[in-house]
Amino acid sequence: MITSMALCNLLPLVFPLLLPLLADLLPRVSALESSIKSTFMYPFPCSESIKICNSSLYHINNGLQAEQIAFFYSVNRSEITYVKNQDYLVTVPCSCQKINDIAGYFYHTTYPVKKDDTFVNVSGQIYSGQAWSFGGEESKFIEGHEVDIYLPCGCVERKSQIVVTYTVQLHDTLSDIATLLSAKISGIESMNSILIQNSEYIDVGWVLFIPREKNGLSKDKEGECLNILYIF
Ligand SMILES: *[C@@H]1O[C@H](CO)[C@@H](O)[C@H](O)[C@H]1NC(C)=O
Ligand SMILES: *[C@@H]1O[C@H](CO)[C@@H](O)[C@H](O)[C@H]1NC(C)=O
Ligand SMILES: *[C@@H]1O[C@H](CO)[C@@H](O)[C@H](O)[C@H]1NC(C)=O
Repeated sequence: MITSMALCNLLPLVFPLLLPLLADLLPRVSALESSIKSTFMYPFPCSESIKICNSSLYHINNGLQAEQIAFFYSVNRSEITYVKNQDYLVTVPCSCQKINDIAGYFYHTTYPVKKDDTFVNVSGQIYSGQAWSFGGEESKFIEGHEVDIYLPCGCVERKSQIVVTYTVQLHDTLSDIATLLSAKISGIESMNSILIQNSEYIDVGWVLFIPREKNGLSKDKEGECLNILYIF
């Protein structure tokens, strides 16, 4: 406890010195990827008591206008809110569904297929890598057809929280994500089984569920302190 307090207080002094060092350790990627390819995704398990809830899908800005986003997600423009860097949260009704024997919470929308579209690039370009691959979808990508798109989402009992489906981006850390979306790191860890083994490791393209506190986080500094513990 004392160690962690001390580290928290020292952080502003030590961190700038560490920055160049850290930058050298990070993998180098030249430009922002315009298409996010999902590298890990698993549906949020349904609970007996909740069939439907409101949840949010995190849409990474890739040049689409809010009106286009509303169209592709089949929502009213008023369900789209701005986060940062023109990223958006799209609020959708999320319900327990079974898709090819896999049960979980999903939001369903449709996409009008254009020339040369594939499931993977539509998921990456339009849905931030969040479209659930249920097998055989590539064969349905025929120009002019409307295809079903299922986006994993989540429901929790706690009324103060809304689950956000988030795709990990380059240079993200869990504490960045927690701060950005007003969530507790411990809450993120307990919502994503992939974090159980090693909660300090996340990778680009992972689709995570983030328990956002609708009224913001209380003033404890959980995020900041964990940040330091990660560094040392
Ligand atoms: C979702 O939110 C809307 C608007 O706040 C509300 O009217 C609706 O009842 C909510 N739906 C569920 C399933 O909670
Ligand atoms: C969309 O939201 C606006 C503003 O909240 C509302 O006036 C309009 O009726 C909504 N449209 C639909 C189709 O729900
Ligand atoms: C998918 O890739 C093809 C070929 O590169 C391109 O023509 C098409 O516009 C892409 N679709 C989307 C939704 O980005």
